[in-house]
Amino acid sequence: MKILTVVGARPNFMKAAPIIAAINAHNDRLVADCVDQPERQVETIRHTLVHTGQHYDELMSGSFFSDLNLPKPDIYLGAGSGSHAVQTAEIMKKFEEVLSREKPDVVVVVGDVNSTLACALVTSKISFDSVGSRPMIVHVEAGLRSFDRSMPEEINRILTDHVSDQLFVTEESGIQNLRNEGISVDKIQFVGNTMIDSLLSFKEKAEASTILEKLALLRQAEKNGAAKSVTRYALLTLHRPSNVDNRDVFQNILAGLEELARECPVVFPVHPRTQRRIGEFGFEFQLGANAEENGGNVKVSGIPRNGIILTAPLGYLDFLCLMKHAALVVTDSGGIQEETTILGTPCVTVRENTERPVTVESGTNAIAGTKADTIRDAIRRQMSRKMGAEAPRNWDGKAAARIIDVLLRRHREKSSSRPFTSLMPDCLKTDAHAREPINAYRQPIGS
Ligand code: UD1
Repeated sequence: MKILTVVGARPNFMKAAPIIAAINAHNDRLVADCVDQPERQVETIRHTLVHTGQHYDELMSGSFFSDLNLPKPDIYLGAGSGSHAVQTAEIMKKFEEVLSREKPDVVVVVGDVNSTLACALVTSKISFDSVGSRPMIVHVEAGLRSFDRSMPEEINRILTDHVSDQLFVTEESGIQNLRNEGISVDKIQFVGNTMIDSLLSFKEKAEASTILEKLALLRQAEKNGAAKSVTRYALLTLHRPSNVDNRDVFQNILAGLEELARECPVVFPVHPRTQRRIGEFGFEFQLGANAEENGGNVKVSGIPRNGIILTAPLGYLDFLCLMKHAALVVTDSGGIQEETTILGTPCVTVRENTERPVTVESGTNAIAGTKADTIRDAIRRQMSRKMGAEAPRNWDGKAAARIIDVLLRRHREKSSSRPFTSLMPDCLKTDAHAREPINAYRQPIGS
């Protein structure tokens, strides 16, 4: 079987990395089995990684490949920035050439960025022969809905889901959303969250990050001088066009953060879009920055003072370390709402809605809107709340293994009329997740 996986923008990398690791683990296991039983028919997976180049900076893309042990992309499209139409069209044109040449059995797209939709759309219309053969389209992180069609990501989610053949959902709300839109239950599998697979496998490594020292957020314990403790701080990210492209909205959000920034340092790694707006709107003075960027590193002199500390965008491990130790995270990102749920860090989401309701049900996440007073109130509430969130179902680090398991079974089903079980290699039968029937990951509708 030949799988082609697409990545393009920052939030894609941590969702794709576990899938590639699961493919490698599958192939390694088969090689080991072959040595023991040379007569066995084995199905290796050939894999091609395509990077569209939607994000291209070292800080937005390159550093994630080293942090997540991702292989270098086999194919780089270099699509770059532009309006939604220009960016999507550029990716589509270039991806069609790749697809015609590579002819994979499966195309995997993850998340909800323009690269996700562009590549799913191209795959849905390609034809390799006179009978219209094309790859199976697999959407990882399907079914999430904010019900806000002014969000470009919501359009990407809906359209990608409707052209996909196999939909892997991260939370139970996704199953219901897809069913409500008339998508057949046969296409839907509740496998869990590959971004959480990444978090769980890199959590320990992130502890070795030196970002807390770099930001002077570690202080010497008073008596013995040896042990260090973490200064109480908050972490902030803002990048949604609806929050940062409008001066009044951005100003309101900053006003909502004033009280928090008087109480503790607020570390703010700044997305390139937000950086541009800060300059255009003349917000530098309000932000009282005391960190300076130097070739991707953050240099801070002295003790951190309260206020907002601007930094360049951070790598995966540094950011994970900061999320884990923060007293509070304020964000307009989607993925950070999920990561803080698993880390048990209180989160305030500066948006009117979320497509990830399980993060609110788990108790770590509060939806604050974008007005100064509602943000301030949500911050006060979340700071005084005791967290003890239970992990959402299937957020257990095994989502990617389940995905590969399902894809292998689908592929065997297609290329043979024999039932799954007789085709399953022993190594999969002995694996806990693989022993469960395929329906184990499919939620009964309406439950
Ligand atoms: C994209 C995704 C969004 C995701 C976000 C994470 C879409 C519709 N949006 O938004 O869902 O949450 O990524 O960051 O796909 N730029 C750089 N260097 C880069 C990449 C971008 O400087 O490596 C600048 C460019 O000036 C560009 C701007 O950032 O115009 C925005 O990049 P773009 O990919 O268009 O959208 P994001 O806002 O990053």
